Amino acid sequence: MKFFIDTANLDQIKEAQDLGVLDGVTTNPSLMAKEGIKGKENIDKHYVDICKIVDGDVSAEVLSTTYEEMIAEGEKLAALHPQIVVKVPCTKDGIKAVKYLNSKEIRTNCTLVFSVGQALLAAKAGATYVSPFVGRLDDISTNGIELIRQISDMYNYYAFDTQVLAASIRHTMHIIECVEAGADVATCPLKAIEGLLNHPLTDKGLEQFIADSKKM
Ligand code: E4P
Repeated sequence: MKFFIDTANLDQIKEAQDLGVLDGVTTNPSLMAKEGIKGKENIDKHYVDICKIVDGDVSAEVLSTTYEEMIAEGEKLAALHPQIVVKVPCTKDGIKAVKYLNSKEIRTNCTLVFSVGQALLAAKAGATYVSPFVGRLDDISTNGIELIRQISDMYNYYAFDTQVLAASIRHTMHIIECVEAGADVATCPLKAIEGLLNHPLTDKGLEQFIADSKKM
């Protein structure tokens, strides 16, 4: 399973990249706003800065909502850097935009997906990635991980190429559950990735080895 980091914070992206296990980055308008990135020029520059830090795919989300605007914006975003994947919401216009961008060999991430039906449309339109939001489903007492499992099964059954990118990952256990559910990618906060390292027996074992090494 690939690891993307879900942030627009350059320090966190560098930290995850330094760990050596990072496969890409996802951003969204809320994450960009959180970093205080404002204005078209600064937004574009920030995406290019992210691409310079990581080797993998970087999702850049369109801000428009109509088909015509989304494809124009998507083409401009894709032209910024070869690592850019255009993130498009799973609406009627969004699905049409995914289909168009795919025909132009521009890679897409179909986002704000909350059902198997939406994921089916995204795959049929040729999305590179589909982003079901695990945490936001959990927030409304619906099993987000179960949706990851259902979409992964459906894509495997019909041999769709679209990759399941589990989004809205909130904690380390979500990552483990995504592995079990068959996600291709999990996009996670840095803290959730670092949480995978935690094990008291590792700490205890290392402490013992260090103590014993002094007797060698
Ligand atoms: C990533 O692609 C999504 O935009 C993000 O994971 C949403 O996460 P949230 O539900 O924690 O805001």
